[in-house]
Amino acid sequence: MSSVRSNLNVVILAAGKGTRMHSDLPKVLHQVAGRALLSHVITCAEKLEPENIVAVYGFGGRKVPEAIARDDILWAEQAEQLGTGHAVQQAMPLLGDKGITLVLLGDVPLLRAETCRMLIRNAEQHLALLTVEKDIPTGYGRIVRSFDGRVQAIVEEKDADAEQRRIKEVNSGIMAMPTVLLKQWLGRLRNENNQKEYYLTDVIAMAVEDGVGVVTERAQDEWEVIGVNSKADLAGVERIYQKNEAQRLMHAGVTLRDPERIDVRGRLKTGRDVEIDIGCVFEGNVELGDKVSIGPYCVIKDATIAEGSVIAPYTHIDEATVGRDSRIGPYARLRPGTELVAEAHIGNFVEIKNSRVDHGSKINHLSYVGDSQVGKHVNIGAGTITCNYDGANKHRTIIGDHAFIGSDTQLVAPVTVEAGATIGAGSTITRDAPENSLTLSRSKQITIQGWKRPVKTKK
Ligand code: UD1
Ligand code: CA
Repeated sequence: MSSVRSNLNVVILAAGKGTRMHSDLPKVLHQVAGRALLSHVITCAEKLEPENIVAVYGFGGRKVPEAIARDDILWAEQAEQLGTGHAVQQAMPLLGDKGITLVLLGDVPLLRAETCRMLIRNAEQHLALLTVEKDIPTGYGRIVRSFDGRVQAIVEEKDADAEQRRIKEVNSGIMAMPTVLLKQWLGRLRNENNQKEYYLTDVIAMAVEDGVGVVTERAQDEWEVIGVNSKADLAGVERIYQKNEAQRLMHAGVTLRDPERIDVRGRLKTGRDVEIDIGCVFEGNVELGDKVSIGPYCVIKDATIAEGSVIAPYTHIDEATVGRDSRIGPYARLRPGTELVAEAHIGNFVEIKNSRVDHGSKINHLSYVGDSQVGKHVNIGAGTITCNYDGANKHRTIIGDHAFIGSDTQLVAPVTVEAGATIGAGSTITRDAPENSLTLSRSKQITIQGWKRPVKTKK
């Protein structure tokens, strides 16, 4: 197998504007599952372990290479978009004459490496073409076969006659062939067609002319070769991607309340008996331990949630670690740098940022804890705020084990509340609070006897 791969080039076409997207962003940078279309195709190409990957860019100039930010692949510029054949031509000077070249399209993001492998196997001596049967073939190049079933040519929709338009076998745009033959054929392309473009698809007729066999493979699933040309296509491809991801999760044992209502934009790793309710979005790298339960409408990004933890509805977690058996939310927000060690209780409208909260501590209502270190079994009352920012710099708040912070307290950092300290409700704490004592900073409650409410003066 490795002998094939070491002679394999992959050329990815990504220079087109994507007129039908009606967007300033080059088409291949539009996203599926939070990643550019082109990134999906590059990932597929990499799985084949080719000698070279060349991406052809053009519309939007350096925008595409800059956004993809990969200098471990080769980039070829197609300054003017004169067609798919012309695009492949731009890549050829970067490649030798040996081996096989596989052409992939930057706007076909769901293609599987398995399917490419099938194609490559037939491309040592032949032109191997990936086709698919479509009930509605509109927009795709049609595969024209002779009476005995041999491929004769590909006819683009815009050049096809009425009879050809009825053909349901279409070109996926993906093909592989000996590099040396591809180079020859590219040199013979003409742009005498409706779009005045150099069509890559014209090499099929050339192969037939030269007596080189054209072998076709059918994609197993139609969705694998869907090309994104419009925002509707993009949304369609996104849904298919998400359905596949939902299937993968359920196969791994995850309970999804509704597989139609989950979005994974990255990598989601799951333990045993994980449950995910509807409307959740997972971004980046997320890891859910055994028996983790995620309530409806949570947004979770680059986070680890350890076993037994329950995330209640509408919770947002971003670059945070939640230790085992914690209860978070509803309506909690864990921001970057939050580390909850274990058995934490974080309740509604609590925001935590860049803070470590040790074992068994509770912050249950309406609080902001930032740049802090909270010890074990601390209770932070409702409405507590760490005032970490003085307008210029951020400062830390340290709260010792078993401390009790009364409701509506402001802890003006830098400040330390020592172990076992109690802070009276409604305090503004600007100096350290000593251990095992009650510290408070509010004025004493008084009652004015005989006081009357003001009454409205008559005019
Ligand atoms: C192409 C095929 C068609 C096939 C369909 C499958 C040709 C002539 N037609 O049509 O047979 O059914 O794909 O999706 O090949 N690109 C460039 N430079 C260019 C033109 C295009 O890099 O000058 C890139 C685009 O960025 C895109 C890909 O090539 O990623 C396909 O181009 P597109 O214009 O979408 O071709 P289709 O009309 O879809
Ligand atoms: Ca296309």
